[in-house]
Amino acid sequence: MITFRDYYNNEVKLSFDDHPFSQEPKHVWVICKYKGNWLLTKHRERGLEFPGGKVEEGETACDAAIREVREETGGKVQEISYIGQYKVNGRKDIVVKNVYYAIVDELKKQETYYETEGPVLLKFIPNRVKQMKKYSFIMKDGVLENCMDYLKHHKVK
Ligand code: GTP
Repeated sequence: MITFRDYYNNEVKLSFDDHPFSQEPKHVWVICKYKGNWLLTKHRERGLEFPGGKVEEGETACDAAIREVREETGGKVQEISYIGQYKVNGRKDIVVKNVYYAIVDELKKQETYYETEGPVLLKFIPNRVKQMKKYSFIMKDGVLENCMDYLKHHKVK
């Protein structure tokens, strides 16, 4: 378990164990790759981030992850793996999110990308992401760096 503070100074706990905080988390976040590039989306308010969102009624968290990738990037998920879960102790509520790693094999143009401007492909995620205004706050805490580190050192299918 790794504990740190997020961009808004809320406490965050991240773990790579199997669903340590909730069996049915209400939120998902998906680190995506498409043809060797990182696949992000540009949220209209928050800026550049990996796709994600809320689990809807009747969906599993994994279904939600696949749907959010499609809605926010047009990406068709070929393979997806759970990698961890984090809990944000916000001022108002507690948010528990599953983190997935997904391989996207096709990008299909969408009529709408919902609250985002659609797909953004990046060769590298800059080291200075925390100082860069165009990146979303959800990319600016220990979740991103620890998950990237985890992916580097583990064989995730
Ligand atoms: P809507 O109902 O879609 O308007 O969402 P919301 O603004 O209520 O946000 P949500 O329920 O997704 O999250 C509530 C709060 O939790 C946010 O304002 C953030 O402070 C925090 N939060 C949500 N997701 C993350 C995340 O991925 N990382 C961090 N650090 N905080 C998050």
